[in-house]
Amino acid sequence: MLSDMPPDSAAPLPPPRDPSGSYRVSCVCLGNICRSPMAEVVLRAQLAAAGLHDRVIVDSAGTGDWHLGEPMNPPARRQLERRGYDGSAHQARQFDASWLAERDLILAMDSSNLANLRALAQQAGSTPDTMRRIRLFGEVAGLDGADVPDPWGGSPAEFARVLSMLETGMARVVSQLRDVIRAAATER
Ligand code: 4NP
Repeated sequence: MLSDMPPDSAAPLPPPRDPSGSYRVSCVCLGNICRSPMAEVVLRAQLAAAGLHDRVIVDSAGTGDWHLGEPMNPPARRQLERRGYDGSAHQARQFDASWLAERDLILAMDSSNLANLRALAQQAGSTPDTMRRIRLFGEVAGLDGADVPDPWGGSPAEFARVLSMLETGMARVVSQLRDVIRAAATER
């Protein structure tokens, strides 16, 4: 019966691959100049505020290669700065299949990013464990599975909305990260 199955959003975060090492999170969008670098900056700031910055390594990438090496899209960076974050260090990267086996959690910003990542993982012959580590941000973050909308070329208000979604959702991600890191520490 379907009701016996937990919805995706209720699935706990995957445990760290190495219980004595850092927990590694990659945020992934299409171009790695708007959503996922914003997500990376917000998650890192919230982890620092929660005292978990030395337990979790955060990065980001795009599934596409159009913007490799570029800085963050200026409107994205401006929205971050308005709320006290620094997005100046970013250089866009493309997600590489070799990362699949190295990350503990891969957060897709929207359902098309999720489909692209799953296709890449299937091509790479990833294990079921690795497949389960690829998750939709909107599910993990308690946002009813909502996509983080692609703001590229959009208005400042659209970028502000993306940032608000990321701030709200990442607070829930951090709280789950705290739990999964604590559980791994007690099992060691
Ligand atoms: P992002 O936004 O995936 O949030 O970085 C986009 C950036 C560039 C493109 C699409 C989305 N593009 O088609 O070049």
